[in-house]
Amino acid sequence: MIVSIPKEILEGEKRVAIIPETVAKLKKLGYTVYIQKDAGQIAGFLDNQYIEAGAEVIEDVNRLYKEADILIKVNIPMKHPSTGKNELEMMKEGSFYIGFFFPLINKELVQLAAKSKVNVISMDSIPRITKAQRMDVLSSQTNLAGYRAVILAANYSKKVFPLMMTAAGTISPAKVVIIGAGVAGLQAIATAKRLGAVVEVSDVRPAVKEQVQSLGAKYIEPPDVIEEEGGYAKEASEEFLRKQQEILKKHIASADVVITTAQVPGKRAPILVPEDMVKAMQPGSVIVDMAAGTGGNCELTEPDKIVEKYGVKIIGFTNLVSDLAFDASQLYSRNIQALLEYLNKEGKLEINLEDEIVKGSLITYNGEVIHEKTKEILNS
Ligand code: NAI
Repeated sequence: MIVSIPKEILEGEKRVAIIPETVAKLKKLGYTVYIQKDAGQIAGFLDNQYIEAGAEVIEDVNRLYKEADILIKVNIPMKHPSTGKNELEMMKEGSFYIGFFFPLINKELVQLAAKSKVNVISMDSIPRITKAQRMDVLSSQTNLAGYRAVILAANYSKKVFPLMMTAAGTISPAKVVIIGAGVAGLQAIATAKRLGAVVEVSDVRPAVKEQVQSLGAKYIEPPDVIEEEGGYAKEASEEFLRKQQEILKKHIASADVVITTAQVPGKRAPILVPEDMVKAMQPGSVIVDMAAGTGGNCELTEPDKIVEKYGVKIIGFTNLVSDLAFDASQLYSRNIQALLEYLNKEGKLEINLEDEIVKGSLITYNGEVIHEKTKEILNS
């Protein structure tokens, strides 16, 4: 079977889906590996490293896509600049597309995959169960993004993070408020603490308090407890959010840095930092709104921009992890490797439709949409 790894098309994307170390592992499983010329270069992986690991470097993109039995990418399929066709339309019938896909919000892509008879394994749909932990791309990438958010904030902040006692006087530590302590938030807390900041954290799930405190941060109690479903918070009411904003007001007004990561899956991100709260912040402070891609937790966030309002810089970058392409590609590649090893049977993918991981992540198969939740969305 031929596994092809194209160069990512998304503007600003620096990651590559497979690194040389994984190529060697795939070769051992019996796969032939094609890599597009310079696909890993920006991430720090050169063509000669891929060749040494056993891959063939391909310049002709039509061949790369057409001959692939399995195409592995990071980002969702998109229009290819050199052919004008969607990547799915460049693939042969019966082949597999593996990568981020977000099927519940990409109905047209799902339909195109079914029409093109391309079988899609959506990495973001891999169920969050113990045996699939090594394949969890959402966690591996978001964890790094949480780290990046703090580094970025420190870079733009007017204040240094640690307490410094110098002959010229003492510098107080920066105060960082983190809203949402899931995957991104917990890494943001750990990073801000390591840099020496004083950290306060808001979340709404009861299980989070202990985790926050064990990282040495102060927990800001929510107005009430919100029920959990599968480790995620349920959507809060307007009334709840209003009360929460009231509580957050004084914490945010005295913060040097605010990192927001609050999300409820499948919903617009809750607004927790409205305009009047930004107005109350000290000039020179920084907000990194990690939820910018789903509407933002701050009312004034603009996706993929840094805007300055009332002297506060608001950063809304939606692909923070791309800046950490070397490490992010390594983790992503190992996640994919774990999936391929799991599905491998004598050098081929074995698709058992009863398997929990397959059921959760296989979206289209043999020209049909077979993923239950995606079918529900398509029929609604
Ligand atoms: P997660 O679901 O693990 O964590 C979100 C947290 O927000 C949960 O702990 C939840 O309880 C909390 N939350 C929900 N409503 C809240 C409220 N009203 N107040 C306080 N906390 C609340 O999500 P994860 O994976 O950590 O992702 C966080 C956000 O970061 C998402 O919006 C995700 O799309 C985004 N993200 C952004 C990236 C970027 O480059 N900008 C990269 C990766 C993720």
